[in-house]
Amino acid sequence: MEKVSLLERIDQAAAAIAARSGETPEIGLILGSGLGILADLIEDAVVVPYHEIPFFPVSTVEGHAGELLLGKVKGRQVLMMKGRFHTYEGYEPDAVSFPVRVMKKLGVKTLLVTNAAGGVNESFDVGDLMVISDHLNFMFRNPLIGPNDNSLGVRFPDMSEAYSKRLRKLAHETAAELGFSLREGVYAAMSGPAYETPAEIRMLRIVGSDAVGMSTVPEVMVARHAGIEVLGFSCISNMAAGILDQPLSHAEVMEAADRVKDKFLGLILAILPKI
Ligand code: HPA
Repeated sequence: MEKVSLLERIDQAAAAIAARSGETPEIGLILGSGLGILADLIEDAVVVPYHEIPFFPVSTVEGHAGELLLGKVKGRQVLMMKGRFHTYEGYEPDAVSFPVRVMKKLGVKTLLVTNAAGGVNESFDVGDLMVISDHLNFMFRNPLIGPNDNSLGVRFPDMSEAYSKRLRKLAHETAAELGFSLREGVYAAMSGPAYETPAEIRMLRIVGSDAVGMSTVPEVMVARHAGIEVLGFSCISNMAAGILDQPLSHAEVMEAADRVKDKFLGLILAILPKI
């Protein structure tokens, strides 16, 4: 079979989604652990299962079918991914970030991305919310490797402001209005799926990381390549390996993310109309 070009795959996926919803989404949402509940707040949501979108990656994990939701939240047209893809599941970085290409094609101007992350900065506490100021790509994989289609973005995209200064400021102002403050720092992306060793966490701290996780970076790189403005948050769900004298578990991560979800959701809902 002849290989379908990236441009053609994006066009077909976007056309299938556009056929289901007449609205133009302005804001893309890729939300990590705990925040899937935002889906329930989308008014008159149009739901498109991933498997009905040509060339969309399909989750292999049972119970994580995955669907796109399009509709209005707080007066803004959003496109939300309910279920995201990670490279540790075996997806290539360009598959993980393909939905961002499709978002761009559909009209998305801003990407709001969240994740659960381990706290590397020892002054952080479990439950803190961190605005991502920048990232370190310790996945050592990059979705932009390969032939570059100049109609999608430049060959050598600038990453000097991967996370929008304007939106970071807005996030801090909004949190202050809600009566709490946000941390801000550098997110280091590791491949996973094993959690890091204490030695890796010491290294990450030395090189300037404040939080560590296994997602987000592929999507953000493609968003920037495509000229989409990005706002990213990490929920500090645990202190990274070796900081506390206790093992890490996925259950702990989920529990902590669940505990702050109302606060986190409140922040996102308050930011959306101001983006
Ligand atoms: N390390 C990597 N990814 C994570 C962590 C962590 O400690 N917590 C949540 N996601």
